[in-house]
Amino acid sequence: MEQDLVAIESDCSDALSRVEELDALNDLRVQYLGRQGRLTAIMRGLGKLAKEDRKAFGQAANKVRDRLNQAFAQAEDRLKQAALEAELAERIDLTLPGSDAVVRGRVHPLRRVESEILGIFNRLGYRIASGPQVEDDWHNFEALNMPPDHPARDMQDTFYTVDGRLLRTHTSPVQIRTMLANKPPLRIVVPGAVYRCDADVSHSPMFHQVEGLVVDQGITMADLKGTLAYFAREMFGADTKIRLRSSFFPFTEPSAEVDVSCIFCGGKGCRVCGDCGWIEILGCGMVDPAVFEAVGLGPDQTQGFAFGMGIERIAMLRHRIPDIRLLFDSRVEFLEQFAQRDREV
Ligand code: DAH
Repeated sequence: MEQDLVAIESDCSDALSRVEELDALNDLRVQYLGRQGRLTAIMRGLGKLAKEDRKAFGQAANKVRDRLNQAFAQAEDRLKQAALEAELAERIDLTLPGSDAVVRGRVHPLRRVESEILGIFNRLGYRIASGPQVEDDWHNFEALNMPPDHPARDMQDTFYTVDGRLLRTHTSPVQIRTMLANKPPLRIVVPGAVYRCDADVSHSPMFHQVEGLVVDQGITMADLKGTLAYFAREMFGADTKIRLRSSFFPFTEPSAEVDVSCIFCGGKGCRVCGDCGWIEILGCGMVDPAVFEAVGLGPDQTQGFAFGMGIERIAMLRHRIPDIRLLFDSRVEFLEQFAQRDREV
């Protein structure tokens, strides 16, 4: 029986040194120390021994049991530690980007298009000017040759403030402010938010324009046309053509609307241009003498041209954006598409 005891201890120690799973460890425990286990069976057999042998053998068996219990505890510690290390090694991959990694922001497509427009005019020597978004009637309308009952005011559904001022309906009032504060020659572009009570897929109550103004002596319509043709080529590609269609604005005379050859079909006709091959992008004209008069410039010595365009419209054309509201929703899925598509600014 003593040999059995020695064999049990050495078998069990052997098995414990090789065990690699907690489940297998528990099986071993049952196998040796459980109710039907090998050691338990031997201890049960104690009763059959002669009285004088019983004590010595019982003590020996108890010692074996204690040592095995200790060996099981050690094996369990070892396996738990190994399991923890395995789990940590799996979870902590230091080469992975952190879950709270900083997401790099990028310039909004509208701002990119604005920067491109300003960049083109900047290369032609234009300065950037700005003015207030809450305007007064005189700068927004009257000085621009739109007296109070002028029908052209109906074209721009105006938001009025309670104190009788208004949210500027266009960037043109900055023409007036610039001419009042600076002497010609002037060459400015004015980016900024404007407001009209209007909303659908192509209109937003707040949108953005870039205004242009050149004032000098001897400025002609040819300068205007050459400038805008250059702008169109830079903005939409070297093959882009422009055409001027006669139009009306109170602050310019003569006035024109400018179309570019369709940037999608090259002028052949497609859905975007309504099969006509041309797309309207801005309004322009020679500064009306009444405007020069309002700011105290003698129309005889001074000429100028002006133009105004909607940035959203240009951005929508450039990127084939079907709904203006996408530009203001701040949806990341939409904005992320511009990561590769836009030229760097
Ligand atoms: N202010 C006009 C608008 O918002 C756009 C415009 C047209 C501006 C002709 C100009 C211009 O400077 O000459 O509809």
